[in-house]
Amino acid sequence: MKKKRLVTSALPYVNNVPHLGNLIQVLSADAYARYSRSKGHETLYICGTDEYGTATETKALEQGISPQELCSKYYNIHKEIYKWFEIGFDRFGRTSTPQQTQIVQSIFWNLHTNGYIETKTVEQFYSEKSKMFLADRYIMGTCPKCGYQQARGDQCEDCGSLLDPTQLINPLSKIDNTSPVLRSSTHLYINLPKIRPMLEKWLNTKKHTWSHNAIKMTEAWMRDGLKSRAITRDLKWGIPVPLEGFTDKVFYVWFDAPIGYISISACHSDAWREWWNKPEEVELVQFIGKDNIPFHTVIFPASLLGSGETWTLLHSISSTEYLNYEGGAFSKSMGRGVFGNDVVEIGLDVDIWRFYLFFNRPENSDFTFTWRDFQETINSELINNFANFAHKFLRSTISILERNLCRRIYFPLKVRKYGQIYKKKKQR
Ligand code: 2FM
Ligand code: ZN
Repeated sequence: MKKKRLVTSALPYVNNVPHLGNLIQVLSADAYARYSRSKGHETLYICGTDEYGTATETKALEQGISPQELCSKYYNIHKEIYKWFEIGFDRFGRTSTPQQTQIVQSIFWNLHTNGYIETKTVEQFYSEKSKMFLADRYIMGTCPKCGYQQARGDQCEDCGSLLDPTQLINPLSKIDNTSPVLRSSTHLYINLPKIRPMLEKWLNTKKHTWSHNAIKMTEAWMRDGLKSRAITRDLKWGIPVPLEGFTDKVFYVWFDAPIGYISISACHSDAWREWWNKPEEVELVQFIGKDNIPFHTVIFPASLLGSGETWTLLHSISSTEYLNYEGGAFSKSMGRGVFGNDVVEIGLDVDIWRFYLFFNRPENSDFTFTWRDFQETINSELINNFANFAHKFLRSTISILERNLCRRIYFPLKVRKYGQIYKKKKQR
């Protein structure tokens, strides 16, 4: 019997318009799901917006709306852009649903019952100016591992190390630019060292269908020793922690986000357990960027294994390197990059973008998008090579010939024109 295939692409953060880097993931999973169906595998492709956490709370505050309103606004933006890109999700859902709360809390209770949750009182950064605990990503400083000066408190985007903000050298609050002070707060932790034997056993049977970078990063995590990780935060916008003494806190967004794959499936169909509790019948195939690797290969599987239920765990993972823009990382706040709404406004055919993104998918090293390369690649690879190849075979059909001629002359002008318009827009 052919195995069923459960395909996911990383749930994009809801609080921004998706950029080409996000689109690489949904496109990759889309192509794979189409391929899988064409080979006769029953296939379910799940994605959706990752909605909880500080980033949403802060942005909603900036825009003077509630976090729920902000999520709905951006959820629709995401949905429209992926529709324009012709992504064939079976379900594009979201994490702020009752199903998500129910499943996250139930996995938490199982972990708790099985003895994998512990409490720790920790010193945390607090802004005296804004009178709030600062989420890890809102603290910046120098990475203790590689010396990068703009490292975020949760992760260094330069070397990929996951960090605790207290490890940063010269920490600074990104919210109000003040030096934060340390205050104590008690949190719940998932005891990864205790889950390690189960995790190791599972890992030893699984890695042959993983990207090279996922294997290497996971091996490094196991080699360097697993530590317990906090799964709660002092925030309002998140899933309430149901344990007495912690009910004023919410689950950390990275504890709940991967469970979003499960809850979005549950929103899609009452038969979701036929996908998620059937490891013998279903292969879970996940598409992510490299900064998400340990969450998918270590923390999420550990949470599921520790729950003691029978879950469909990761089978194959395809984790791309970074897609950068004209020499730097994509950044909505700095107005740097190509975002889904720009692509829609530019008005080129969707297949041109789909082709270009696949052609340059950053499989083994980072790739930098430039408008010049976009124009040259489309003109030479797609129009000259592919269209001429198609033309040779179809030359008896006059309408195709005409269309190719039009494209060859018109399209390069169009790309150049829109590239310039785009850059002007960014300079304003
Ligand atoms: O890096 C990101 O954009 C995260 N929102 C990805 C989450 S993937 C999954 F775990 F939900
Ligand atoms: Zn670093």
